Amino acid sequence: MTKKTCGAARVADVGAAIELNGWVNRRRDHGGLIFVDIRDHEGVTQIVFDPQHPAFAQAETLRHEDVIRVHGAVRKRPAGTQNAKLRTGEVEVAVAELFIHSRSTVPPFPIAGDEAVDENLRMEYRYLDLRRPRLQRNMRLRHNMVKAIRDFFDDRGFIEIETPMLIKSTPEGARDYLVPSRLHRGTFYALPQSPQLLKQILMIAGFGRYMQIARCMRDEDLRADRQPEFTQLDVEISFCTQEEVLELMESAMKFAWKRALGEEIVHDFPRLQHADAMQRYGSDKPDLRFGLELREVSEIFASSEFKVFRAQSDDPKGAVIGVRYPGGAALSRRDFDALTEVAKQFGGKGLVWIALGAGETKSSAAKFMTEENVSALRSALDAQTGDALLLFADERSAALAVAGKMRNEVAERCGLRDPQRFAFAWVTDFPLFERDEETGAPTPAHHPFTAPRDDQWDLLDRNPLAMRAQHYDLVLNGWELGSGSIRIHNAEFQRKIFALLGISGEQIEDRFGFFLRALDYGAPPHGGMALGIDRLAMIAVGEENIRDVVAFPKNQAARDMMMDAPSHVPDRLLRELSLQIKDETGK
Ligand code: AMO
Repeated sequence: MTKKTCGAARVADVGAAIELNGWVNRRRDHGGLIFVDIRDHEGVTQIVFDPQHPAFAQAETLRHEDVIRVHGAVRKRPAGTQNAKLRTGEVEVAVAELFIHSRSTVPPFPIAGDEAVDENLRMEYRYLDLRRPRLQRNMRLRHNMVKAIRDFFDDRGFIEIETPMLIKSTPEGARDYLVPSRLHRGTFYALPQSPQLLKQILMIAGFGRYMQIARCMRDEDLRADRQPEFTQLDVEISFCTQEEVLELMESAMKFAWKRALGEEIVHDFPRLQHADAMQRYGSDKPDLRFGLELREVSEIFASSEFKVFRAQSDDPKGAVIGVRYPGGAALSRRDFDALTEVAKQFGGKGLVWIALGAGETKSSAAKFMTEENVSALRSALDAQTGDALLLFADERSAALAVAGKMRNEVAERCGLRDPQRFAFAWVTDFPLFERDEETGAPTPAHHPFTAPRDDQWDLLDRNPLAMRAQHYDLVLNGWELGSGSIRIHNAEFQRKIFALLGISGEQIEDRFGFFLRALDYGAPPHGGMALGIDRLAMIAVGEENIRDVVAFPKNQAARDMMMDAPSHVPDRLLRELSLQIKDETGK
């Protein structure tokens, strides 16, 4: 008797006596026989119960998801009954003996297929959801990706070093999760938003080439591509240039794609400067699976009767930005109204549309659109008869941002976002600082440990917002996959950046003293990057939500629906931590 997985039996095994263990995937009573598909992590095998056999009566009681063991002989399926969709589809097992390991209650949703099910229900019964083919496939592919990545970095002399979970806060721009200390009353550990400072310290500690598949926690608003806890491929290298980091990470992605997906990516990833990405795509994470580049068309409206557009055209800070909608002339006025609402949801003031129909041109601003305007727009946006043009007038960065989002929306509607295609791109030359929307003060565009371009330190006192950083992002299909930078390795420069960010001398010492001291003991120049493994897996398997590649995700309200966490704890535990809950409503 050979023990086999449920994906293993083949014609070559015909005549062999085997043991299978697994779940009842399906049961069919047919022509006096009972057919059961038995399933495990490797696949599905058809087993057959004969009415003459003593196990038959027991087989009649089998229900979906019961867990069984069978012994039996492999035999060829009769001609015409093979199942080409199954790897085991040419054979079946004639059962000699059945043992029921455990019975299943009727599951709240079907397990054998991937029918749509309410996501909260899926999460509450995650162990059942995980049994279904889609999540089984996703988790396996994620494993293969991570394995390929580990092998790649190991081959190149990197070592994986685990960094702690209970640390002091490191700023990555999100809120920290805090853990109260029992031994040191009134004090807190922070859970790492990333291992940023620790990996820099590992460079100071002389490790040269570090990588880690690192867990990170951030208390931030959730979106389709965010979880409160997530996994990064975290990398740091001493004595490296930006170019070396880019080449390394690009090779890692090509290697992982080949190994885990069997796909060869031969071309170099395109590179875009940040300012260029914003101007051409209205986004620092452009989706390059399609063109539809934005065009600034302000000049066309320089002497227009159309006041709103002319105002933005005359104002050096304003702009009119156009997007082409292939085939959009077929849309009705109603469709355009709906599209205008979408633009508003994206933060736009509205949109002006022009439909380039075969007979006539229609527009929401027909009164003001001269024939010259239309023909100039048509050529600026490389449009053809049958297309529509969407125009956005606003302060330049606002107009670009809305137009960029509408570019994605149009592509989605035109079916240009093919999940089978992978468009990687590098975005480089980010500004070092952005202006805080509320206070107007500079805040780091990446994090405060990012080095500016070597020749720009003199701008720090004069015009910090004009400084460019040695900061790069890797983008895939319109998602930000990863970020990295060359770091500041000089304590004095690092102090200057903290000071510029308005952190007082005392706070600098309190929050970053340990790090600044480390920089004082011979810090090598260094740089690195972190890629979101969850996002990587999500895009690789063609999912649109990160939760579908995480075994036990939190829902949109950051709750674990299966364990029902977060939850209350006994008063005794709170007392031990010297904590008191004053008012659960938070008032
Ligand atoms: P950053 O904060 O840009 O950089 O994060 C790097 C990558 O991590 C992923 N990521 C997330 N994935 C899922 N859920 C989240 N909440 C989440 N937040 C971030 C993204 C992102 O691109 N220490 C720096 C890296 C460095 O400079 O080396 C850092 O963490 O894919």
